[in-house]
Amino acid sequence: MNAQKSFSGLFAAIAAAIVCSAFGVVASADPGPAGAKLEPLGPVPVPADNPMTPEKIELGRMLYFDPRLSGDSSLSCAKCHDPSKGFSNGVQLSDAYPGTKHWRHVPTVLNAAYAKFQFWDGRADSLEAQAVGPIAAPIEMNQNYTHLVEKLSGIPHYRDQFKKVFNSDVTMDNLAKAIAAFERTIVSKPGKVDKYLSGDKSALTDSEKRGMELFTGKANCIACHHGALLTDNEFHTTGVPEIEPLQKEADRIATRHFFATDQKYPNPRSVDADYGREFITKSQSDRGKFKTPSLRELKYTAPYMHNGAFETLEDVIEFYMKGGGDHKNKDALLKPFDLTDQEFDDLLAFLEALSSPTPITAEKPAELPKKSDGTL
Ligand code: HEC
Ligand code: HEC
Repeated sequence: MNAQKSFSGLFAAIAAAIVCSAFGVVASADPGPAGAKLEPLGPVPVPADNPMTPEKIELGRMLYFDPRLSGDSSLSCAKCHDPSKGFSNGVQLSDAYPGTKHWRHVPTVLNAAYAKFQFWDGRADSLEAQAVGPIAAPIEMNQNYTHLVEKLSGIPHYRDQFKKVFNSDVTMDNLAKAIAAFERTIVSKPGKVDKYLSGDKSALTDSEKRGMELFTGKANCIACHHGALLTDNEFHTTGVPEIEPLQKEADRIATRHFFATDQKYPNPRSVDADYGREFITKSQSDRGKFKTPSLRELKYTAPYMHNGAFETLEDVIEFYMKGGGDHKNKDALLKPFDLTDQEFDDLLAFLEALSSPTPITAEKPAELPKKSDGTL
């Protein structure tokens, strides 16, 4: 793994920013309606206080696959963000801690390293801040931090690796840093769309090119999905329909009320839907807003949206053709549009061209480190 070399921190990020703006000139051949444009993928940004090293990435990988991070040792990060399922779980709603039920779709970890906000409602602003969330969450890993630190300190390999990588004992801060460093390796490589945007006009088929024109033109996807990751890093209400399990299943409704309570949302038991960003800002104008997700690697991450409402990309396109769903806060940028069958196929071909030809994956460690008594 030469991750250190290819993602060597701020320096590379600055160089890339210069290169990207140079490419931007090329890409501006396809300007979006608001001047928004598509850009080729640059190197992953690495925070100055968490540089990547091969040892840290390896420690992060070990922790990512270790179910002992959860209270009952049944759930690792990889259980819900499964490398063989596009780093999501392939079904509508997330797995959950035994005895509870989840209420949101698992967003992929792929390219999360590029995102300004983490979670559908953007409540974390870095991978480091995000990683400790699921560990304590009663509906996810339901683990106590103090207990976890002691548990991992009783595993000689972890004790040694924290010493080696961070020159420290096992701490939650450093555990988060190691996992985040590993996640920064779970990213797309520049693909055919990047080649095209960098000037190689033969990189896309005619259908994919027409699809890109629709994306940046008539279908106006570019208004929200732009830049290298095809996201504006903002929140919008698109009016994705509610799904039945969230209306009917008592355990999922309990989870919604629990989440609202946990976010100190007023009258949490009156909350009858996923209010998205409003739970964080408490501002009614944010009701129904969710983070604009990246559109890279969609081929491997179905189903789609915060509640997994849509099984296929065809369903997603049909939703947008109707101008999105019903919601009093629906974004004015969403307007109905028509596509001929050919145009529909072209737009789909462009969306598919944003995925790597083969799935990006991550290798599970051959074995997990044993405790000092020799057991797992
Ligand atoms: C029980 C399933 C489950 C487990 C275990 C789990 N996650 Fe998640 N993860 C989710 C769900 C569901 C969300 C979205 C929650 C939300 O938006 O409120 C999420 C969100 C995320 C995100 C944000 C991605 C984005 O695009 O917003 C990252 C990154 C992430 N998880 C990494 C991890 C890491 C690292 C671990 C292990 C420490 C982990 N997850 C454990 C289910 C899980
Ligand atoms: C007004 C801003 C906006 C516009 C315009 C827009 N989107 Fe989105 N898109 C979003 C938001 C926000 C979400 C997440 C919604 C949710 O989870 O409820 C999303 C989700 C998606 C997803 C699901 C991705 C995933 O990982 O779950 C796809 C695919 C998508 N959009 C494609 C498109 C296409 C194609 C167009 C043009 C036809 C388009 N979008 C136009 C804001 C927008």
